[in-house]
Amino acid sequence: MAAAFLDLESSNSWVKLNNVADLDADYAALLDECVDEISNLSGRDLRRHLTLAQFTVFCSSPGSVTPYHIDHETNFLCQIAGEKEVCLWDPRDRGILSEREIERFYTGEINAARYREDLEPKARRFDLRPGLGVHQPPNAPHWVRTGASASITVSVNLSHKDIDRRAHVYQVNHLLRKAGLSPRPPGQSAWVDGVKSLPMSWLGTSKPRSADDVVFSGLERLRAPWYWLRGVK
Ligand SMILES: [Fe+2]
Repeated sequence: MAAAFLDLESSNSWVKLNNVADLDADYAALLDECVDEISNLSGRDLRRHLTLAQFTVFCSSPGSVTPYHIDHETNFLCQIAGEKEVCLWDPRDRGILSEREIERFYTGEINAARYREDLEPKARRFDLRPGLGVHQPPNAPHWVRTGASASITVSVNLSHKDIDRRAHVYQVNHLLRKAGLSPRPPGQSAWVDGVKSLPMSWLGTSKPRSADDVVFSGLERLRAPWYWLRGVK
């Protein structure tokens, strides 16, 4: 890995460093500054709503492509070195991203969002160079391509209570659908969404160390007895 990192221009590789603020106090302080700055600029007190804030660093060789996908968190992608093309779609448009795709994503299918040629006219393209960044809303489909030289990008990843609750509603909907019901998607009734999300919130870890912990720890605990029984069989 060290060789790939040191010779990024020609090693045709990429390195993803997760949660660097947990490893270095300077990064932790910088992350705090970023959260404060985003709070001030957005006019929302993010700290009241945050369940997780992390730095992820992407180092990639020229021409590297991250295929079309969605993420749970809201991200602020900041370009440090090299250039990057980011193609981004509106996560609220159900003609682009269907309810079923989101539901499958939240039950563990990381490539649930499917790229189609007919989505191209609806894409927004951002050409990042050092000093520029782009905001990716939660679940916004996107793909990313590194330019002609090696690239370093820092992503500020934020999970907050609203989107975590929504993710848990999708998980409960999946279970209800498997039971033969036709649950309504999240966003139609705050009361119903609140009730649906409770089991996953109760079962989930109280000290998440990653977005996966935030989203999936409750579902995994719920599924654990089933997996255990299958293993015994
Ligand atoms: Fe992503």
